[in-house]
Amino acid sequence: METLTKKETIALRDKFIGKSCQLFFRKDPLKIVSAKGQYMFDERGDAYLDCINNVAHVGHCHPAVVKAGCEQMSTLNTNNRFLHDNIVLCAQRLVSTLPEELEVCFFVNSGSEANDLALRLAQIHTGNRHVIALEHAYHGHLTSLIDISHYKFNLPGGPAQREYVHVASCPDSYRGKFNDAKDEKSKIGELYANEIKDICDNVKTKFGEGMCAYIAESMLSCGGQVIPPPNYFENVYRHVRAAGGVCIADEVQVGFGRIGKHWWAFQQYDVVPDIVTMGKPMGNGHPVAAVITTRAVANSFLNTGVEYFNTYGGNPVSCAIANAVFDTIEKENLREHALVVGEYLLDSCQMLKKKHVCIGDVRGVGLFVGIEIVKDRNTREADYETATYIVSRMKEEHILLSVDGPDCNVIKLKPPMVFSKENVEDVVTTLDRILKEVRHNKEESFHQNRATRPIGASTEVIKETPNRKPGLDARIKSI
Ligand SMILES: Cc1ncc(COP(=O)(O)O)c(C=O)c1O
Repeated sequence: METLTKKETIALRDKFIGKSCQLFFRKDPLKIVSAKGQYMFDERGDAYLDCINNVAHVGHCHPAVVKAGCEQMSTLNTNNRFLHDNIVLCAQRLVSTLPEELEVCFFVNSGSEANDLALRLAQIHTGNRHVIALEHAYHGHLTSLIDISHYKFNLPGGPAQREYVHVASCPDSYRGKFNDAKDEKSKIGELYANEIKDICDNVKTKFGEGMCAYIAESMLSCGGQVIPPPNYFENVYRHVRAAGGVCIADEVQVGFGRIGKHWWAFQQYDVVPDIVTMGKPMGNGHPVAAVITTRAVANSFLNTGVEYFNTYGGNPVSCAIANAVFDTIEKENLREHALVVGEYLLDSCQMLKKKHVCIGDVRGVGLFVGIEIVKDRNTREADYETATYIVSRMKEEHILLSVDGPDCNVIKLKPPMVFSKENVEDVVTTLDRILKEVRHNKEESFHQNRATRPIGASTEVIKETPNRKPGLDARIKSI
């Protein structure tokens, strides 16, 4: 196949690809042509440290995963209407990581398909239609999921909120409705959970109906790397079940050992969902995803008499790849690694917080960390401009970060699980330098503005900085 220059790629993309498909770093997008481990390489061979790709879970292009996919592809690929070992072994393996109630698997191709099927299972099992989802949550791009994803339908051009969709507050203990600045810390989880009870009660009063489902990520990604408080899920699940609904844990982003201590993020809360959905890391970049549920829910689905067939779901190649991802996590001890490196990352970011007042909060579990940038630590007002400035400067330093949260002021880190302590040091040292730059820019603009500023003009000036020469350091070059 011919190789295009970056300029030609951009021109063809502009011409043929839907403009709604947005690029990272729109002003100067990256053309990535290869990757290995936690590094990605552009068309000039320059390396970038990937701190955000939780899909390349065991490392980009992991040789064992690639080999498993290639070998199975050159042997056989069919669909799950034929008996094949890969699918049953993968199912057995998934179930072995979960509480014993979760024992029946359905294989699909993406996180969206998984959540869509989860909703369908919930509707059939409960006979109800009302769904509770969280503020700022995203669960996928299918129509059924845009309808429950506040992160999307709440946009100015988004679809109107459906009558059966109910949005509960994001259980954020830092900038949320209930937070540790004004509420008793141990009570925050219950306060947020009480809202779920209120929704269930209102549905009963207004429609005379019970609940279908409560769906939430076990840690909220698009919501701003939020770690729900203790007692939250436990109480929510109780209220939802009392109202006839089932509880769906969306583990599409946060599952497969990212938190280190457990395979699944819901396990840190000591609850057992009725349905768990998983995707992204499962295939390390290959499209494979799954829904796992209880025998009772699966039987309700079976009793409809409608066959479930998904052409590619659980095909031998996808399952060979998912099995290789499992093998790699285990062989390379990646859960323990995530725990150790994650703690180091969190501690290092806490040190940065001590030095830089624009960091309002640092939170995380395992290799899932958020750094919340604020204008003022007392008011906790979001500082989008500084957060995006940091991300764009880090890109110039060849370190890829991104922002999330309703105000796009939370810098997120969820790197491939092979991320090392040396990588943490590179990120933190560079971040420290850029945060000093931010402080310097703010001080300079404050003094300039004092001299020239008309009354009422903004004091926020983001300075352009010169490009840094490509390349991270010798560590990357030696890969
Ligand atoms: C929490 C969550 N659920 C579901 C999805 C949908 O997954 P996919 O893009 O594989 O369809 C996403 C995608 O970003 C997600 O973040």
